[in-house]
Amino acid sequence: MLSINNIGVSFGGVRALNEVTFETPESGITALIGPNGAGKTTLFNAITGFVDPTDGNVSFDGENITGNVPENVFMHGISRTFQNLNIIPELTLRQNMYLGFIGKEKPSALKTITGMNRGYWKSAEERIDECMEFVNVTDYAEMTPDSIPYGVLKNFELARAILSKPKMLLLDEPAAGLNLTEKENLAEMVQKIYSKGVSILMVEHDMQFISSLAEYVVCLNFGEVIGKGTYQEVRENKEVLRAYLGDDD
Ligand SMILES: Nc1ncnc2c1ncn2[C@@H]1O[C@H](COP(=O)(O)OP(=O)(O)OP(=O)(O)O)[C@@H](O)[C@H]1O
Ligand SMILES: [Mg+2]
Repeated sequence: MLSINNIGVSFGGVRALNEVTFETPESGITALIGPNGAGKTTLFNAITGFVDPTDGNVSFDGENITGNVPENVFMHGISRTFQNLNIIPELTLRQNMYLGFIGKEKPSALKTITGMNRGYWKSAEERIDECMEFVNVTDYAEMTPDSIPYGVLKNFELARAILSKPKMLLLDEPAAGLNLTEKENLAEMVQKIYSKGVSILMVEHDMQFISSLAEYVVCLNFGEVIGKGTYQEVRENKEVLRAYLGDDD
């Protein structure tokens, strides 16, 4: 369970997050919603060690992970995707996948050079194949990102994020830019990942996508939590409606 307690983040004079508090359910899919600039990505960055909160703390499964560097957060079992694709353009998808593997397992370079790590790399290859197959990107494995459709690259990010068998997955706008069929496929994949025991926290704008997946919803506006509860509760929350639709009732 992820517990966000009183988190604040400032960028110079901009207060991007203020007193943000909520807990994700013990196991489940949680959606983080809110208008553009509400602070959703900043919260992901504060959880995963990409920005330092000025106040508050984050704990995961009872352990305080506040201010940990990204690598340590990852070691705790939290993996993420990025709103803007984070794929090295010069490398093939398969090579990009290896980078995800190396970060978690820290294979010894010496053992690799001396051929003592063959078993390790064989199991790494199998896991990479398995994850790429799971999100249907195997056909593109040996290509570089510039010649691969956007929807495939979004799926690829999901494959890389589950490579390390995380306990929790943070997805920043996984459905953005996808067509209807791609969104349906993605929803199915997210559901499958969840059914393997991975908790999910996702930032999304697509309400239909959210309603089909999320049991719990948290809404941010101007860096503050303005509503949390079930999808239905948050949908009917007056402050949430005002944030999305403006002041005229
Ligand atoms: N590195 C940064 N430096 C300065 N300001 C930042 C930085 N990152 C975010 N901000 C500001 O913090 C606020 C929240 O931004 P954030 O990207 O977290 O919003 P968001 O809810 O993810 O929006 P979107 O839906 O557009 O992705 C915005 O005002 C943004 O300009
Ligand atoms: Mg964002």
